Amino acid sequence: MTRVAVVGAAGYIGGELLRILTTHPEVELAAATSRRLRGRQIDGVHPNLRGRTRLAFCAEDRLDHYDVLFLATPHRETMRRMPEFLGRADTIIDLSGDFRLRCADTYEDYYGVPHEATALLGTFVPGVPEFHRERLRTADRVSVPGCMANAGILALTPLAEAGLIRDEITVDARTGSSGAGATAGSENLHAERSGALRVFAPTRHRHEAEISQATGLPVRMTATGGGGRTRGAAAVQGTPRRRRRRAGTSARPTGSGTPTSRSSAWSPSGAACTGSRTRRSCPVPTSATSASPWTRSRTA
Ligand SMILES: NC(=O)c1ccc[n+]([C@@H]2O[C@H](COP(=O)([O-])OP(=O)(O)OC[C@H]3O[C@@H](n4cnc5c(N)ncnc54)[C@H](OP(=O)(O)O)[C@@H]3O)[C@@H](O)[C@H]2O)c1
Repeated sequence: MTRVAVVGAAGYIGGELLRILTTHPEVELAAATSRRLRGRQIDGVHPNLRGRTRLAFCAEDRLDHYDVLFLATPHRETMRRMPEFLGRADTIIDLSGDFRLRCADTYEDYYGVPHEATALLGTFVPGVPEFHRERLRTADRVSVPGCMANAGILALTPLAEAGLIRDEITVDARTGSSGAGATAGSENLHAERSGALRVFAPTRHRHEAEISQATGLPVRMTATGGGGRTRGAAAVQGTPRRRRRRAGTSARPTGSGTPTSRSSAWSPSGAACTGSRTRRSCPVPTSATSASPWTRSRTA
């Protein structure tokens, strides 16, 4: 059995993670932390876990050493405490955004604060088994992509690798409300959310940088929340398509009649994406053919 613990287990993503872990035949859930709810039964906070665990939330200072430690904690807090977390497990699986990007300048650009553990950037394997399965088998540090980023990466990477994308990608993402987390706030009230569409990141969404890093292509992303019709996250990608050159023929010129590739993907969790960015100091791809500063995830 693999002995695991979850930090930040009272939140939405922590609860979903507990649901998966408590049904896994080879996992022993040994601890789940909550600062606010320590001592409370887990299934009292996450009622869908009734009958699956008899554990209570514990405080973080009660953590031991585990085979795997999952971090479902807010970004910024996660990078600040990563050195401590690394000492608590053979393998760390981080669900926050703090170690998804490999470039410190890009992190600062998109998250609005300097990265506090730059030496660790680039040491996490992306938690996308579809593209990194072999590396994940032995990885001791894993960073799970954002939900909408994951939808974009799954849909676009095969097209990018086949050379079918010749220009900037646009991603139009829709999320429900779980992406904002379980923390109460007036913007999350039913009266504010019900039936309303909220464009909360019209430009420079944080997941834009993740998709760009994974595909090596320029990405522009818009994220809209609410409407009451989305469970999880849905992302629709559009890009002018590069025409395949047939053997023995020259490529036909492309222009206004260029066909457009559209793909879509769905990610089962919500999304947490707010904040402002004012500058971009890391170079990013400006066209599909320009030299990319990103190392493609799959070949990294
Ligand atoms: N929601 C999603 O759909 C989603 C999807 C992908 C990734 N994520 C990422 O997962 C992480 C958690 O998101 P969430 O939506 O689950 O948020 P959430 O519902 O607000 O839960 C966050 C949890 O972290 C704990 N926490 C808060 N501040 C902390 C601190 N300073 N130190 C330690 N623990 C702290 C809180 O528990 P206590 O206060 O009780 O300790 C809370 O249970 C974030 O980094 C988010 O970006 C979320």
